[in-house]
Amino acid sequence: MRILAIESSCDETAAAVVENGTKIISTVVATSHAMHEKYGGIVPEVAARMQLESILPTITESLIPLGSASQSMAEKIDNHIDAIAVTVGPGLIGSLLVGVEAAKTIAYATQKPIIPVNHVLAHMYANFVHAEQNTDKQRNDDNKETNQENPNIHFPAISLVVSGGHTELYLLKNTKEMQWLGGTIDDAAGECFDKTARLLGFGHGGGLAIQKAAARCKKTESSPLPGKALPVPMLSKEHVFDFSFSGLKTAILRKVTTLRDQNMLDDSAISRLSYEVQETITDVLVKKTLKAVTQFEAKAILLSGGVSANLRLREKFIKTIPTIPSSVDFFVPPVPLCTDNAVYIASYAYFRGSSIPVDEVNAIPDLSVEVSS
Ligand code: KG4
Ligand code: ZN
Repeated sequence: MRILAIESSCDETAAAVVENGTKIISTVVATSHAMHEKYGGIVPEVAARMQLESILPTITESLIPLGSASQSMAEKIDNHIDAIAVTVGPGLIGSLLVGVEAAKTIAYATQKPIIPVNHVLAHMYANFVHAEQNTDKQRNDDNKETNQENPNIHFPAISLVVSGGHTELYLLKNTKEMQWLGGTIDDAAGECFDKTARLLGFGHGGGLAIQKAAARCKKTESSPLPGKALPVPMLSKEHVFDFSFSGLKTAILRKVTTLRDQNMLDDSAISRLSYEVQETITDVLVKKTLKAVTQFEAKAILLSGGVSANLRLREKFIKTIPTIPSSVDFFVPPVPLCTDNAVYIASYAYFRGSSIPVDEVNAIPDLSVEVSS
């Protein structure tokens, strides 16, 4: 089964064709980062206008492997695509509308089924794509269908989705059934990375910039920064699987202000602060995930979302997992599958989605991620 997936929930415009939920035929991502850099962040109207420009070229490019240049988009879809998947939420209304209306028009014109997709839940399916690709290499039997559960991912699994707007923990019973365990009650981990980056002058989309600055910090050589140590957010018993990063964000703001007032915000202080922020965020993500692993006797951890591109977070999971009593496998997609793209939208649609009448597909900016089914 081949799915054409469309994703436009935030500032990226993406399309992908994926076979049987895991085999990537094509993937195209158009970003508007340069424009957001100029405005110091994502301006929803600017994002939607740029997505309007790029949606058709992006979809057209994703269809290139499906036929000759002389064939129309409709012909390629008629002949090679079984269903259309589209992100319907959560996200920015203008951005979502661009993708949803394009997908609906294509589905209507080609009479293909359309599958609405929850962007946050879909992130975790990047792990199924990646694990399957690795397994594929090991498979000798060419006739083996790939539409089975991946033999390497054992359930129950704990899934942590960490993106720009979400920090959510799930218990996965299989590739379809999941239970939300907890999530951020205020800011997401990605937001904390981004706001810190902006405060330190790194501009838009700063998780990667914080990671790079933190890598320059030689912990043993630097003296601790003046002021209180950063608070470790929400490790208390009452909020076992919830996250909160707003207190940390405020503490960072105070620290940056103090350093600036004292004329101490030099390169060394910036890298030291980046290091401290990254350590604090990654500590809480790893601890809460491992707590869930122990409580639910999970056999696998699936990490996903833009923040899962963070090298320190990956390294910390790998180092910490052997210290817990249970034996658990760790999965994280390669970086291009962590940040927003349409591959995992198609994968989710294949494994967990179902089609609905085209006139019932609507953009839902505040679509809930707290599922239990
Ligand atoms: O999943 P994503 O691409 O978009 C949303 O659905 O939000 O996640 C974007 C987030 C941003 O906050 C970005 O700063 C963060 O992922 N991010 C990182 C890294 N790469 C991207 N955060 C920390 N370290 C990174 N290397
Ligand atoms: Zn995302």
